[in-house]
Amino acid sequence: MSITVYVPGKLMLLGEHVVVYGYPCIVSSVNKFLKVECSFSEKFEDIIDIPKGTDDQLIKISVNTFRNKFQKKDKLHIKTESEITGFGLGSSAAVTVGVMKALSGLYEITLSRDKLFNLSYQTIIRLQPRSSGFDIASCIWGGTILFTGEDKNVESLSDNLLPILVIFSGAKADTVGMVEKVAVLKKNEPEKTAEAFQSIGKIVEKGRIALSQKDWMGFGKLMNENHELLRSLGISNNILDNLVETCLKAGAFGAKISGAGGGDCIIAIAPEARIEYIKRAVNSSGGKIIDMNVGETKGALNS
Ligand code: PMV
Repeated sequence: MSITVYVPGKLMLLGEHVVVYGYPCIVSSVNKFLKVECSFSEKFEDIIDIPKGTDDQLIKISVNTFRNKFQKKDKLHIKTESEITGFGLGSSAAVTVGVMKALSGLYEITLSRDKLFNLSYQTIIRLQPRSSGFDIASCIWGGTILFTGEDKNVESLSDNLLPILVIFSGAKADTVGMVEKVAVLKKNEPEKTAEAFQSIGKIVEKGRIALSQKDWMGFGKLMNENHELLRSLGISNNILDNLVETCLKAGAFGAKISGAGGGDCIIAIAPEARIEYIKRAVNSSGGKIIDMNVGETKGALNS
C-alpha cells in the first residue's frame, strides 16, 4: 500500500513579516506542487528518497512527530518530488504537511484541517521558531485565505484564479535571516517599526475588501504601499526594487516582494491587456516569469 499526496505551493500577497507579530496576512496557494509518496519500508530501516541537494531534516522531524503522537514504530519509505523548491513557494511547509497527510492516509487516521495544522506547525517551529505558520495554513486550506498570526485563525477569502504574475528574482531568500533582521530593527527602532506594522495591518484589512470586490486596481495600490513599507523595514534590495519598477512601468496596477524579502519572488497584479507586455519587460530586465495559477483550489490538498 502506498499513499501519494500533492501539496500546493504558496505566495504571500499582503502582510509578510507583520504576521510573525500576530497580525493577519493574505496568502494564496498556487498550482505548483510538492509530491509526497509514502509506504511501509521494504527494509528494516527508513528509506528517504528526496531530490538531490535538498535536506531530509524536516522529513525526519515530521516522521518523529507523527510516530510520537500516534505511537507508531514501523519503518517507512518516503519519497518526495518538488516543483516548488528554490523559489520561496513554501517547500518546507509543503513537505511537513505532505508527510503528515500521507502518514495519516497510510495509517487510516482521520486528521481534520485544524489537527493537521497543529501537528505540522508544532514540527516546523522546532526548526524555525519564529515561523508564523501562514504557509502551512495555505497548503492545507488552499485558495486565498486570511491567516491571523496571533490565533492562527484561517478565513477563506476566494477560490478563484487571481490576475497575479509571479517573477523570480534569481536569488534564494534567507527567510530566517530576514525575520531576524526585522526583529533587530523592532528592538532598535520600536516606534518606527510599530508604525510600519500598524500601517501594513490596515493594508491587509483593505486588501481583503478589495479582493472581495475584485477591485484589482485597488488591490494593486495596496501592494505598492505594502512594498514601500517593507522597503522601510530594510528587507528589499536593488534587484527586487528594479523588478517591481519594471512591472509598474509596463502597466501593472501594483507589484511587491512576496515573502521574506532579500530574494525569491516578486508578484505583480495587472490588467489582462498589459500582461504580455509586462512579461516581455520582465524578461529583458533579468527577471524570470514563473508560469503558474495563483489562488485556485483546483488540485489542492483537500479538494
Ligand atoms: O520566505 P517565505 O516566502 O517563506 O515567507 C516568509 C514570511 C514571513 O512573514 C517573513 C515569515 C513567516 O513565518 O510568516
